[in-house]
Amino acid sequence: MKRIVLTIISFFLLFNLFSQGKPDKMEWWREAKFGMFIHWGVYSVPAGYYHGQPVKGIGEWIMNRGKIPMAEYQQFAKKFDPTDFNADQWVKIARDAGMKYIVITAKHHDGFAMWPTKVSKWNIYDATPWHHDPLQELALACRKYGIKLGFYYSQAQDWNNGGAAAGGKWDSTQQHDMDDYIDKIAVPQVKELLTNYGSDVPAVLWWDTPLDMNPERAKKLYDAVEALKPGIIMNNRLGGGFEGDYKTPEQKIPPQGFPGQDWETCMTINNTWGYKRDDENWKSTEILIRNLCDIASKGGNYLLNIGPTSKGIIPSPEVERLAAIGRWMKENGEAIYGAGPTAFGVEFGKDVKGRSGYGKEIMVSSGNDWRCTTKPGKLYIIIFNWPEDGKFELPGLESKVTKAYLLADHQELKFTQTDAAVTLDLPSVAPDKIASVVCVQIADNAAKVTPSAKEQSH
Ligand code: GLC
Repeated sequence: MKRIVLTIISFFLLFNLFSQGKPDKMEWWREAKFGMFIHWGVYSVPAGYYHGQPVKGIGEWIMNRGKIPMAEYQQFAKKFDPTDFNADQWVKIARDAGMKYIVITAKHHDGFAMWPTKVSKWNIYDATPWHHDPLQELALACRKYGIKLGFYYSQAQDWNNGGAAAGGKWDSTQQHDMDDYIDKIAVPQVKELLTNYGSDVPAVLWWDTPLDMNPERAKKLYDAVEALKPGIIMNNRLGGGFEGDYKTPEQKIPPQGFPGQDWETCMTINNTWGYKRDDENWKSTEILIRNLCDIASKGGNYLLNIGPTSKGIIPSPEVERLAAIGRWMKENGEAIYGAGPTAFGVEFGKDVKGRSGYGKEIMVSSGNDWRCTTKPGKLYIIIFNWPEDGKFELPGLESKVTKAYLLADHQELKFTQTDAAVTLDLPSVAPDKIASVVCVQIADNAAKVTPSAKEQSH
C-alpha cells in the first residue's frame, strides 16, 4: 500500500515538474522594473580632480583619463573613510524610490575591491582606514527590506591588478598578463563574491567592458558561476561569445525596445557614474519618471545610478529625485511593476531617439505624449501632457472597453467607443503633472488593436 502511495506521489511530482517546467529565473527581475545602480569606490576621493585640475570624462575613469600612476592613485584609498555610510539608509532610499533591486560596483575598472578580498590587498578593508565590508552590510539591509542585491564586477579591465586597460597601460609599474590576472584575481574574486554573502546574494552579476576577453577566459568566469550559483542572472557584457540573460543599453532608451527580449537601460542622474564634485547636470524628476514609464512601456527595466561620496553620502539632488519618483510610484506603481509592454506602438512617434554617450538629456516622447503598459484585461494609459479639451483618444482599440478610471483615486471616467477609437473623458485637472495613469479595463485578456495603431517607425 505504502509503495503504491509513494509511486502515485512521485508520479504526481514528476508530472508537475514537466508540465510547469523550471521556474523562470528572470521572473522577479521582469516584475521588478526599477533598480538602483551604485558606483562607489576610491574614485569618489579625487571626485573628478587631479592635482587641482578637473579631469574630463566620467568620475570612475579618472585614473585612466588622468593617466595617474598606480602608486599615486593608491594613495587616494588612504582618504577613503566613509564614516557616514549607512547601509540601512541607502537601501531605504532605494526602497522608498520604488526600486526592487540594487546593483553595486563590487569592483570597478580601477580594480579596487569593495570587500575584504583575500587575493589582493587593493581592497576597502586592507587599503583604507575604514576596515569595513560594505557589501556585507548592504546584503543584510537588502534582506531586511526585501530588496535583491547584485554585484557589478569589472572582469576584464583592472588597472591595478594586471588586467586590461582601455588605451593600454600608462605607468611602467602596471603589470599586464591577462591570463594570469584572470586566474589569480578575477576568478578567485568572483568566487568570493558568490560565496561570501549567503545563497540569495548576489542575485545578479553585472559584467562590464569585455576588453581582451576571449571564449576561454570568459568560460573560466562562467564556469565559476555555474559551479557555485547556477541560477544567477547575468548581463550581456561578459564577452567571449557569452550572451547573458539581458541586454544593457547604456544612457539611452532603445526607440522600440527589444521586443521579446529582456533588457535594462542603465543611466546616470547627472553625467557621471562615480561621484564628481562639480557635476551638477541633474536630470529633472520629470525626465526620470517619464523615462521609467517609457522603458516599462517598451518592456525593459530601468537601472538608475547614484554616485555616493567618499564619506558615504548620497548627494542630495539624487536623494530628492529618488524620493519624488517614489511618491509617484506609490500612486502609480501598479502600471509599472509586473506590467507588460504596450499593446500599441504608434505612440512612440517618429522622432523619439535614444541618446548614447554620457549626455544629460535623454529622449522622451517628442512623438506622442503618452505611453501604455499592460496586464491581463487591463491597459494602463500613462498620459504625460494632459489634453486641454479633456478628450483623450486611444487609437485602434478593437477590444471592448468595460470600464475606465484614474489610477490615482479610482474615479470612474466616461468614454465612448467606435470602430476608429476610444475617447476618454478626462477631468480638467491632471492628477499628476508629470504622468497620470488611466486604467482601461477590456473584455479581452490581451488587447486587440488595429495594425495602424501598432505601426512604428523603423
Ligand atoms: C561603462 C563604463 C563604466 C560604467 C558602465 C555602466 O561601460 O566603462 O564606467 O560603469 O559603463 O554601464
